[in-house]
Amino acid sequence: MPTQKKGKKGEPRLPKDKELHFRYLIKSNAAMMGDVEFIRITRNHPEVNAGLFRDVLISRIDQEQWFSNVYCDNQNQQIYVAVDKKTQQQIGYVQFTRNLIDRNVEAGYVVHPNYGGRGFGTRLVRWSIEFLKTPGLLPFDELKGTAHKVWLLCLASNKKAIKIYYKCGFKLDGVLPDHIFKNGKYEGVVNMSMIIQ
Ligand SMILES: CC(C)(COP(=O)(O)OP(=O)(O)OC[C@H]1O[C@@H](n2cnc3c(N)ncnc32)[C@H](O)[C@@H]1OP(=O)(O)O)[C@@H](O)C(=O)NCCC(=O)NCCS
Repeated sequence: MPTQKKGKKGEPRLPKDKELHFRYLIKSNAAMMGDVEFIRITRNHPEVNAGLFRDVLISRIDQEQWFSNVYCDNQNQQIYVAVDKKTQQQIGYVQFTRNLIDRNVEAGYVVHPNYGGRGFGTRLVRWSIEFLKTPGLLPFDELKGTAHKVWLLCLASNKKAIKIYYKCGFKLDGVLPDHIFKNGKYEGVVNMSMIIQ
């Protein structure tokens, strides 16, 4: 389970996890650490594609353009790459999209299939909840507050992910039937959420 710590001067610190270190995807270190490319390779993996709404293959150029022209300019989006403390290998990432008007955050989680089934996905979700409960990390209310709610959409067929969300305290808000057209057929989507405060 992640634990929270305060910085020396009381500034918010990232929650800690026993096995994973979390690194903010930011211009100053992303290229050096290879995190942008890790996200691309992971996102392009067929097993990951299967769990997501769209199974597009992302080229290196498209990924670099997305990072420089979209992600880095978007104050409302933050990605944290999870690194295995033992091996220093990237294993997955968490994506937050902040909605300041409605005070909520959409979350997304991905673990590279090479590291699947070892509890890392559960760790990612638990860490993200601690992150969102920490005032000031993904700021609302003049940089101090937290979001009211975290929510996500997930393919109804993605039983593995849904099991993790229930286990970590998300509640089912509803099912959107035939919401996504993927691989020649319509698929349902579940909407899940958790009140943060
Ligand atoms: C979903 C995902 C994050 C899970 O990561 P992970 O590291 O494999 O997850 P964990 O090892 O923590 O947990 C997997 C759980 O699912 C269970 N599980 C595995 N296959 C399952 C299945 N077909 N149906 C139901 N549960 C299943 C496991 O038993 C385990 O539960 P337990 O810990 O209670 O035993 C990862 O598979 C992934 O990134 N998938 C592709 C992207 C994706 O689908 N993201 C979510 C989008 S909403």
